[in-house]
Amino acid sequence: MIRLQQLTKRYGSFTAVNAIDLEVPRGQLFGFLGPNGAGKTTTLRMIAGILRPTGGTVEIGGIDIARDPMAAKMKLGFIPDRPFIYEKLTGAEFMRFVAGLYDQEGPEVEHRARELLALFDLEEWRDELVESYSHGMRQKLIISSAFVHRAEVIVVDEPMVGLDPKAARILKDLFREYVNRGNTIMMSTHTLEVAEAMCDRIAIIQAGKIRASGTMAELRQSAEGGAEGLEEIFLKLTGENAARELIEVLNA
Ligand SMILES: Nc1ncnc2c1ncn2[C@@H]1O[C@H](COP(=O)(O)OP(=O)(O)O)[C@@H](O)[C@H]1O
Ligand SMILES: [Mg+2]
Repeated sequence: MIRLQQLTKRYGSFTAVNAIDLEVPRGQLFGFLGPNGAGKTTTLRMIAGILRPTGGTVEIGGIDIARDPMAAKMKLGFIPDRPFIYEKLTGAEFMRFVAGLYDQEGPEVEHRARELLALFDLEEWRDELVESYSHGMRQKLIISSAFVHRAEVIVVDEPMVGLDPKAARILKDLFREYVNRGNTIMMSTHTLEVAEAMCDRIAIIQAGKIRASGTMAELRQSAEGGAEGLEEIFLKLTGENAARELIEVLNA
């Protein structure tokens, strides 16, 4: 559903994302795991079509985003790590606005928006201006808006950061339900715990390169044998403690 080929981003002489190849199959919750500065946000912004690659290609459902950006973007919802919301809209208006970007309106959209806001305990706030929302409420609104237009693919940058435990649980269930219906999610995270708890497959990125990818079972196997096992990969990634934690999780 998402295919990256030799995707590259350079900022001046610095290469943030270095010729990565990646395929995210339909119907999966795919984790993009790596430490801070690894290149996750840069990659996701290129997939969402808001950052132009230096090289390589992004395909969404077989459509090259550089060749046909509108068609590719119509399939896609993006939840950025630092979202922008118009402060002078109410929650309900913001949902309507996002649906409108995808040429959707009417009773079905209103119904979906209502359900999503209710799911995240925002129904009482739906007619209040976003400027009065807390950080967590804004985040829940942004997440809701990505689901309002029935995207086939949702790309999410660090969705668990800043959510309270209840919202985190709702989000986890919503993501699972969404992929169970044949949709696709690619989410970044810097914590192994989150990837382990939520994702079907993961790819590990560090210093702009994919270091390992597969299902947890496959990664577990590679952690047990081989010189370039997961332990070593993670030692290089984030230091000894993270490596130990990883092995504990994988062996649990
Ligand atoms: N606009 C930019 N200009 C220069 N360097 C950048 C820019 N955006 C990100 N970087 C650098 O690219 C690297 C990858 O950043 P990012 O994709 O945000 O990583 P992650 O999301 O994995 O933490 C980091 O070293 C970061 O400092
Ligand atoms: Mg980031």
